[in-house]
Amino acid sequence: MRLDKFLCDALGATRKEATKIIKSGDVTVDGVMQKSGAFKVAEGSEVEWQGREINKPGPRYIMLFKPDGFVCSHEDGFNQTAFMLLDEVKMETLHFAGRLDVDTTGLVLITDDGQWSHRITSPKHKCDKTYRVWLADPVQASYQQAFADGIQLKNEKAPTLPAQLEVIDDHEVVLTIHEGKYHQVKRMFAALGNKVEALHRERIGELELDEMLEPGEYRYLTQEEIDSVWNK
Ligand code: URA
Repeated sequence: MRLDKFLCDALGATRKEATKIIKSGDVTVDGVMQKSGAFKVAEGSEVEWQGREINKPGPRYIMLFKPDGFVCSHEDGFNQTAFMLLDEVKMETLHFAGRLDVDTTGLVLITDDGQWSHRITSPKHKCDKTYRVWLADPVQASYQQAFADGIQLKNEKAPTLPAQLEVIDDHEVVLTIHEGKYHQVKRMFAALGNKVEALHRERIGELELDEMLEPGEYRYLTQEEIDSVWNK
C-alpha cells in the first residue's frame, strides 16, 4: 500500500493532509524516514509518525482495565470517559462491546468491528460474563438456588437466565451471567434484598482481564483471543 494511503486510513487524514505530514519528515517506515507518498509500505512494516507507531488500517480489538469513575461513552458532561484512557487515532470509530457502570471496574472490550462486538452483546449468543461482587449484607444460603432458577427483576417480563454463583466469603461472591440487561448484577442482588457495594468484571466469554494490566491500562487482543469470540 502507498504510504499516503496508509496514513489516510490510519489517521483518518485527507490525501492532502497525509502528503503534508509525510513532507514534514516526521514519518518513518521500519526506522527510515520516507518523504514520498508513493513509497510502498510492505505487509508487516512498522510506520511511525513523530516517533509513535501508527495503527495499521484494519479492525482494532482492545482490552481495557476500566477504573472506577470512568463512563463507557464517547462524551459525558460530568465524568471522565473510558476513551480518555486510550492513546489511539480515529477514536470515533471505536465502540464498547458491552458497557460497565461508572462505578464498576474491570474488563471492557473496545473495537471498531461491529460484527465481532455483536457476537458478544447480542442476547442470542448468551455470552458469559463473570463478575466479582462485594455485598453490603451477608450472602444467604438461598442465593445459589435463586440465581440458578432465575430472578424476576423489576420492569422485566421474564426472569433472568440461570446464573452460577460461587461464594467466596460472607460478603464476596463470583457471579457468571449469560445476558447483559441494564444494571443486571445490581438489580439481581437488589431483588434478593441485598446491595452491591463494589463490582468488578473479570471475564467476558473466554477473555479474562489480563493480570498484568493496572487500572486504566489497555492492550491489544491476540489473534487467538479475537478468534475465541467467533469460535464460541
Ligand atoms: N451489572 C451491573 O449492575 N453493572 C455493571 O456495570 C455490569 C453489570
